[in-house]
Amino acid sequence: MNGDVPVATRSRYDVPMQTDLKDKVVLITGASGGIGQATARAFAEEDSTLALHYNTNAQAAENLCNEIGGNAIALRADLTKEADVDAMYDRIVQKSGRIDAIVVNAGTWTTGHTPVHEMSLKQWREIIDADLTSAFLTCRGFLRHLQDQPRDSASIVLVGSTAGIYGEEGDADYAAAKSGMIYGLMLSLKNELVRLAPRGRVNSVCPGWVDTPSTESARMKPGMIDRATATMALKKIATAEDCANAIVFLSSDRLAGHLTGVILPVSGGMEGRLIHPPTHTLT
Ligand SMILES: NC(=O)c1ccc[n+]([C@@H]2O[C@H](COP(=O)([O-])OP(=O)(O)OC[C@H]3O[C@@H](n4cnc5c(N)ncnc54)[C@H](OP(=O)(O)O)[C@@H]3O)[C@@H](O)[C@H]2O)c1
Repeated sequence: MNGDVPVATRSRYDVPMQTDLKDKVVLITGASGGIGQATARAFAEEDSTLALHYNTNAQAAENLCNEIGGNAIALRADLTKEADVDAMYDRIVQKSGRIDAIVVNAGTWTTGHTPVHEMSLKQWREIIDADLTSAFLTCRGFLRHLQDQPRDSASIVLVGSTAGIYGEEGDADYAAAKSGMIYGLMLSLKNELVRLAPRGRVNSVCPGWVDTPSTESARMKPGMIDRATATMALKKIATAEDCANAIVFLSSDRLAGHLTGVILPVSGGMEGRLIHPPTHTLT
């Protein structure tokens, strides 16, 4: 016997998966939002030391920090601003000494459906800034930290979107920002990162629709779920935990040590967009 479980009946799968993320210092941007909070809880289960970024929702970040406890800290930054990003990294290094992994999760989109011919340059610039420039600044800050503190391994996980893979009608600004992030930025970073950390890896997680507060009003529109899940084998909306588990997996050198430059869709086997819904059913 070992504890209450007879050895003969205990499966080897009773042993928790080892990620080796214990005591790794991990920065999660957008930790005040739905996917960011679930990701923070998943890393906390691995006993990582967390730097939890927020922009406007201090209350959510502070509550999460208190819930997680340990050495977690909450940090405010507008990630479109160089000075804010630099100050955020300085504070983490002051507090924790080093940063081992980052999750570039902060991002936003407009709630209206705006075709390109109606889109203002202002909207385009704001979304590119919030989703792509913020990712550039966050990654640049981490690379500069690695330059200051050279080491063997490091991990970056970018949170993209299926919008960046398939495009998204009415959200070309957001789709273009996410494509830029998961293709041009990630694939270039992949080869630059190893100059600073020879085992450094950068990967992307691309959710489709996720059950988070920020998508609730869109998901409530009639027919929306049917349309969004029409090309998905699993025909369901992801949970934030589905995304968090994929992020933890890719951040782990032990589990994903030979994966870099990978785009991992967390989208239930989505094959693309339903552009012209059928008007009648074939028999
Ligand atoms: N939910 C989905 O269906 C879905 C699907 C595909 C991809 N994604 C991607 O997943 C990521 C997280 O989405 P979510 O659903 O968790 O969204 P969310 O709940 O709206 O959270 C967004 C997070 O990003 C932060 N943020 C936004 N703009 C920022 C800026 N300029 N500077 C700093 N922080 C900023 C927000 O901070 P504050 O709230 O503190 O201001 C918040 O923490 C995003 O990159 C999103 O594009 C989501």
